[in-house]
Amino acid sequence: MATMAPVPGTDTTTEPLLEVEGLVKHYPLTQGILFRKQTGAVKAVDGVDFVLGRGETLGIVGESGCGKSTVARMLVNLERPTAGAIRYKGEDVTRLSGRALKAVRRNIQMVFQDPYTSLNPRMTVGDIVGEPFDIHPEAAPRGDRRRRVQGLLEVVGLNPEHLNRYPHQFSGGQRQRIGIARGLALRPEIIVADEPVSALDVSVQAQVVNLLERLQDEFGLAYVFIAHDLSVVRHISDRVGVMYLGRIVETGTDAQIYGHPTHPYTQALLSAVPVPDPAARDRRERIILTGDVPSPADIPSGCRFRTRCWKARQRCVDEVPLLAVPEAFRGEGGPAAHPSACHFAEEKRVVPADAAEARP
Ligand SMILES: Nc1ncnc2c1ncn2[C@@H]1O[C@H](COP(=O)(O)OP(=O)(O)O)[C@@H](O)[C@H]1O
Ligand code: SF4
Ligand SMILES: [Mg+2]
Repeated sequence: MATMAPVPGTDTTTEPLLEVEGLVKHYPLTQGILFRKQTGAVKAVDGVDFVLGRGETLGIVGESGCGKSTVARMLVNLERPTAGAIRYKGEDVTRLSGRALKAVRRNIQMVFQDPYTSLNPRMTVGDIVGEPFDIHPEAAPRGDRRRRVQGLLEVVGLNPEHLNRYPHQFSGGQRQRIGIARGLALRPEIIVADEPVSALDVSVQAQVVNLLERLQDEFGLAYVFIAHDLSVVRHISDRVGVMYLGRIVETGTDAQIYGHPTHPYTQALLSAVPVPDPAARDRRERIILTGDVPSPADIPSGCRFRTRCWKARQRCVDEVPLLAVPEAFRGEGGPAAHPSACHFAEEKRVVPADAAEARP
């Protein structure tokens, strides 16, 4: 399993808030009705490592189906990992149960992708935002709940008087604010935001991202911010992990990933990021990914990206590349010196000419 070297820019002197090591989720594939027999596994998450510091934002990016939501669900304990550790302040939460688990869960909350389906249409906004207090009554005395819910609505920019309304009376952006208010109710330290703006109109996306940034400053939150688009996480992330078929294939700071991507998959994703300046658009090299993402039930041998990689050669079939800083860049400490799971990461970069200008 790939282990991750400390990422440049990460403060390794203090214990990370969250440390994920060798995280795996395999869903068994079975056949037969009476005698169910396991015939294989959907390897949705297949060995993921990362760290998250206090108040930091880690962006996780990858195409649909690469395992992002499965990681998110394991982080908030909606799903048990097949293997691996999720350490919160040094303690492996996958081994906790009962009261100890509940106490940890309070500190790691989730904001879901689709505000249209993740809010119960028959509950009032007040009940939705106050629901975490039902599970953790110690967090807010009964008599104080209404005031607390109103405070939460206000903090996310909604009218506190609207707590008796229902989700359908709000726009998509407002609904996502309701989801964020609910996520904040227990004053967590970490919010796992699973594509929080993907279902929203482009015009509304920036407002919600700005809100999340403001809340981060106000409450010292750490985010795991998931997106399928590199341009969305760039705005908000301190570091980014690029995921492909259940693994992180490249990770680094914002400047490293956007300015000096060394993994062909990241380079391809970046070349597809929309650029407003037409001159820059013409200058850059557009990399078109061919073929579909292989099934996570049938992951290619060697490098899992090889069936779509334009640089692939025999070594890529035979040998699994580990997520590590490329040998050639190790001493240099420059922006290329960050972990990349490619045998040929030190070869001449294919960088979109305008990568540095693409910042929104
Ligand atoms: N409960 C499940 N049972 C079987 N396969 C699943 C289950 N949940 C997710 N998967 C599969 O795992 C892979 C990763 O899914 P997901 O984590 O939702 O990816 P993403 O969020 O990146 O789109 C997909 O191929 C998906 O079909
Ligand atoms: S290891 Fe080979 S197939 Fe994988 S990304 Fe690098 S060049 Fe492409
Ligand atoms: Mg998803």
